[in-house]
Amino acid sequence: MEVDRRAFIASLGGAAVVDAMCPEAKAEALEHHLSDLLDASLGYTHHHEEQVVAAPPEATVRRGAGSLFTPQGPQDDRKMPVLAPMPDKPTLVDFFNLRFAPANHVLQSATRALKTGMSEEVILACLLHDVVQNLIKVDHGWWGAQMIEPYVSEKLSWAIRYHQALRFYPDSSVGYEYPELYVRIYGKDYVPPPYIKAAYEFAKKHKWYMEARLITVNDLYAFEPGVQVSLDPFIDIIGRNFKQPKEGLGFDNSKTAHMWRTMMYPDNPL
Ligand SMILES: [Fe+2]
Ligand SMILES: [Fe+2]
Repeated sequence: MEVDRRAFIASLGGAAVVDAMCPEAKAEALEHHLSDLLDASLGYTHHHEEQVVAAPPEATVRRGAGSLFTPQGPQDDRKMPVLAPMPDKPTLVDFFNLRFAPANHVLQSATRALKTGMSEEVILACLLHDVVQNLIKVDHGWWGAQMIEPYVSEKLSWAIRYHQALRFYPDSSVGYEYPELYVRIYGKDYVPPPYIKAAYEFAKKHKWYMEARLITVNDLYAFEPGVQVSLDPFIDIIGRNFKQPKEGLGFDNSKTAHMWRTMMYPDNPL
């Protein structure tokens, strides 16, 4: 997908704002911008890219708040998303339909993994790798891994945790180059912060490195304008690899049930 550098910088509030952003925030902003361009190409409108730079004093929410918690739509006409009630015993598919939609980026990412013959764990990891951004955007690899940990293999959640760091480092063995877009927009001198580098160094030597790496491989290609993908091809893979609690997500007393409930009831005050 083509990025108009000028429009991207303007969308973040101008060159002065962009200069003040740390490189990690810039990289996050680019990913959100691409995700929005993709959704816009399919007729959806989001403007959450501004949530990833430091919030101006007049802001009413932090930029890192998830999409469910912030007004959406054109700048001069933002509205809180209207959310459908969830069923009594919500499944992962219910969350996709009622809280993660349109989810084009993760669906495209999982489709690429499916078409290139990757393992079911990698396909599901691609499908889930960014969904936590509806709850919170800051450090989404770590939050996303934690949220799904009770329901998937250790390997799968591990891969989601480390994809956030790995995308900044090339691996020619799988044809993953440092994203051209990052060079063009942030310049050649970008250095990820120490905690990201440390996570990469750790992951690089780990036995599950390739699972996390393959998420980044599919991530890169998952911003195809106008390509809408359905969840249908993934229903069986979810059935085999995601331990759906019989009480419903949010009501199973798992360590992360509250995270699912927070997305179910984002308007509850306490
Ligand atoms: Fe991501
Ligand atoms: Fe992604």
